[in-house]
Amino acid sequence: PLITVLLCALAYLSGSVLFAIPICKLWKLPDPRAQGSGNPGATNVYRTGGWAPAALTLILDGFKGWLPVWLAHQTELSILAQAMVALFAVTGHMVPLYYRFQGGKGVATSLGAGLALAPATTLLISLIWLLVMWRWRVSALASIVAVLCGPLISALIEPDTMPLFGLLALLIIVRHRTNLIRLAQGRESRF
Ligand code: G3P
Repeated sequence: PLITVLLCALAYLSGSVLFAIPICKLWKLPDPRAQGSGNPGATNVYRTGGWAPAALTLILDGFKGWLPVWLAHQTELSILAQAMVALFAVTGHMVPLYYRFQGGKGVATSLGAGLALAPATTLLISLIWLLVMWRWRVSALASIVAVLCGPLISALIEPDTMPLFGLLALLIIVRHRTNLIRLAQGRESRF
């Protein structure tokens, strides 16, 4: 229905706002695309700006994933339609309209969208992220391990959302290919 199309469009357009970039400008930090990993995301903002701009990036990139899915939930769209809205938000972040389609890795946006659609699964995935990060201090490794657990966790506790977590895992892993190469070579940055 029309509302699904509208929410998918809204999700893509809001997903396309890469908050790391205006936040770095506001904090007078270098463009995140030109330093560290080159990724416009919270992890890379943390590398130059510390926790405050990184936390704000995480919250706002998460919010742009959460809001359209929450709206889809409020308008009582089917789980399939809500999952489509979530995918459009994450795709917006990964291939953004406003930045020549050069975007980020989609972890924070998936976190927000996941919290709106499958909160129990998403909280467990986040817990895994925190545990891996606490143990190995590598953000990309935490993201990769956590999203790989997503399909299994959702299959067990929120099975309707399993296809979404499978697709998100695939997209996020593909976006982490340079991190995977650095991890294999033992060159990935630690915190
Ligand atoms: O969410 C992105 C994170 O998993 C990796 O970021 O900057 O280390 O490539 P980065």
